[in-house]
Amino acid sequence: MNETQYDFGIVGLGVMGRNLLLNMADNGFSVIGLDLDPLKAAALEAETGQGKTVRGTTSAEEFVSALRRPRALMLLVPAGKPVDAAIANLLPLLEEGDIVIDGGNSYFPDTDRRVEALAAEGIHFFGMGISGGEKGARFGPSMMPGGNRQAYERLRPVFEAVAAKVNGEPCVAYLGNGSAGNYVKMVHNGIEYGVMQLIAEVYDLLKRCLGLDDKALQQTFEEWNQTELQSYLVEITGEILKKQDEETGTALVNLISDRARSKGTGKWTSQNAMDLQVPVPTIDMAVLMRDMSKYKEERVSAAALLKGVSAVAEPQDNQKQAVDQVRNAFFFAMLVTYAQGLVQLRVASAEYNYELELQDVARIWRGGCIIRAACLEDFRKAFENAPELPNILLDPQIGQKLLQRQNDMRDILKLAIDKGIPMPAMMSSLSYFDAYRSETLPTNLIQAQRDFFGAHTYERIDREGIFHTKWN
Ligand code: 6PG
Repeated sequence: MNETQYDFGIVGLGVMGRNLLLNMADNGFSVIGLDLDPLKAAALEAETGQGKTVRGTTSAEEFVSALRRPRALMLLVPAGKPVDAAIANLLPLLEEGDIVIDGGNSYFPDTDRRVEALAAEGIHFFGMGISGGEKGARFGPSMMPGGNRQAYERLRPVFEAVAAKVNGEPCVAYLGNGSAGNYVKMVHNGIEYGVMQLIAEVYDLLKRCLGLDDKALQQTFEEWNQTELQSYLVEITGEILKKQDEETGTALVNLISDRARSKGTGKWTSQNAMDLQVPVPTIDMAVLMRDMSKYKEERVSAAALLKGVSAVAEPQDNQKQAVDQVRNAFFFAMLVTYAQGLVQLRVASAEYNYELELQDVARIWRGGCIIRAACLEDFRKAFENAPELPNILLDPQIGQKLLQRQNDMRDILKLAIDKGIPMPAMMSSLSYFDAYRSETLPTNLIQAQRDFFGAHTYERIDREGIFHTKWN
């Protein structure tokens, strides 16, 4: 009989679950994994090195009774019904004070519902976003937990040990109440969609307009990753562009279908931003360009029919300068994309009572996660200096960076318009900036129109009160 009391348990030994458990074992924790598939349970023990305490089981009873109290166990099963099924399965075996963590990309209202249902049984439920994919799980992810603050202390040593580190600081922090962790991860993914779309647009412009070949494109992204653009997504773009298809010898990316898929987190970010009335146009554009990509047959027909300006790849007179302008424009848009997501977090925190500290969010996004980037340190500093900053565009240093690059942004977009290259996310980023820095917007006219046709009333700038006019 195995008497070990395990520090931590994971339910679901797929790629993420297995790698996270092995990461915990490497950090000296005794861990147990539960999976209904006996092969996965057995494989876990086989993969474990000497001196590590790792056990795999297919029995929920054995799993729960082997955990040290109060128990800490994490579900790494697909979001949705499997999470509810796993909870229902385990709940009769758990005791008051135990902690259940959902480590998947769950929809945040589902997490709130589960927090409430389990609290009634005396069980703490945490929603925790985990970012970094397979490699992150194994060697250091960014983790975004939300739930009961006191209960987090039971989890802290494990999470801080396994998380990615930046300057020795772990990329994990208690983020806030209820579904705060899932919400932050959702917005992380919205920003991820936004930056990926920006990269795709910039790649398209460099290729179809400035005429960079595969090698030059690859070198450009590799070089950019040594600049202020330094980030995981820019880095992997360089690596992707390097990969040759073994059979044909061409760059593999050129052989990949342009129909993009998604699992929904980007769409949730946009949908909820609309509910909260927070403009996140770059993220919206990223979501809808994935949708646009699905209309392949129609796009093929339209390409033949709707002739007009077409992109002709031609190097500019000063090609190096043009590529540098694209880099500046991309950095401008990248800053604006993060700004949108961070505003959404601020508003959501007030609306849902999360009590988020944006400084912590920026800090734990600096390493381990998909949107890690050098600029996150600037955002962290901005919130350290001004925790209540409504928008990072108002930080003097970040504002300065945008001002220095706005002309390049405008020039690059003019080029894209002239050549017919779609850059909706880049354009939305500039429009967001221009709208945000407009002291007056033309929405006075919209108010007048609403009053004209619907007697919806308006307010005046020269007098207090609510007004209605008989317009004709
Ligand atoms: C991460 C990723 C991860 C996953 C996305 C992909 O942070 O590790 O964001 O969560 O890769 O869910 O999302 P789409 O399939 O919607 O592109």
